[in-house]
Amino acid sequence: MTDTISLVDELKRLESEALNAVAAADGPVALEAVRVGYLGRQDGKLSRVLRQLGTLAPEARPAVGAEANRVKQVVGAALERRGSEVAAGASRGPAVDLTLPGRRPWIGARHPVTRVVDEICGIFHELGFTRVRGPEVETEWYNFVALNTPLDHPAADEQDTLYLESDAGDSSARHGAHGVQLLLRSHTSPVQIRTMERHGPPIRVVAPGWVYRRDTYDPTHTPVFLQVEGLAVDEGITFVDFKATLGEFARRFFGEGTKVRFRPSFFPFTEPSAEVDVKRMVTRPDGVRVESDWLEIMGAGMVDPAVLSNVGYDPERYTGWAFGMGPGRIAMLRYEVPDLRMFFESDMRFLSQIVD
Ligand code: PHE
Repeated sequence: MTDTISLVDELKRLESEALNAVAAADGPVALEAVRVGYLGRQDGKLSRVLRQLGTLAPEARPAVGAEANRVKQVVGAALERRGSEVAAGASRGPAVDLTLPGRRPWIGARHPVTRVVDEICGIFHELGFTRVRGPEVETEWYNFVALNTPLDHPAADEQDTLYLESDAGDSSARHGAHGVQLLLRSHTSPVQIRTMERHGPPIRVVAPGWVYRRDTYDPTHTPVFLQVEGLAVDEGITFVDFKATLGEFARRFFGEGTKVRFRPSFFPFTEPSAEVDVKRMVTRPDGVRVESDWLEIMGAGMVDPAVLSNVGYDPERYTGWAFGMGPGRIAMLRYEVPDLRMFFESDMRFLSQIVD
């Protein structure tokens, strides 16, 4: 026979346990679990105690029954109060709109300039050119001297070229402890020399890569930029061959009917030299594409015989042409971008506009 005192004690203990559980419940699901755990008809802890009423002496039943009903009411009321608190809290929090589309993960895309470099190299690949690379840290020999550019040429000036500290730790000493002054290449033309040193003619290569110049960061200049070098050397190569190849490239890259113009120019490593311009097309506000200004896309020319001699090629037998293209400028033209700096600022709103 269960004794009255211990049942009443048990009810009081359950009361405080249930009230603690109610206070700790932080959401409708947790509250429902508390309700079922204490007041549930089948397995609720209070219901189980009430089921033991029958084992008490008849005269003890009313007192214990009354106490059980009181606890039930107290716990029920606490559940209700906590229920409205939780509901009010939830409605103050951020509303969840389940009909909103999910956030798409940013899966990344090739940079517009990388895309242009790949496309340029792809077109030259179709025309029989191989892709090669060279180091970004160069010597004066590869960057200037072998390219027929004396070190007192303005391009070799510290105003234009970024020199690295010499081994002696003195950047003003142009020849360090081992007589080798290192610099950040100011163009991809040293790859011409490295390629010809390594391979005999015929040569047909394109060499994409980063180059460095002491330039201010403005809409049309950045101190680091990409170039794509091109070089073709063989017997019987002429300027006509050069113009034809470049014209074909321009048609494949910019589209049929693209206007290309060659302007006489000067580079120490080409003779004759030219600057190549492409007629820029812009979209008017009414959507019509119209011709705009000429944009310079590369420096180029016939390889100077002195350069061929420097790598041990016979200039009587071999001729060639070379170019150095600026894919950043070309990307500006292609995507109608007004400022080169946009390619360096990693603004997703800009970058994500151009997708494959
Ligand atoms: N290296 C030259 C430049 O950076 C471009 C060039 C390359 C010109 C090859 C002629 C031949 O300006």
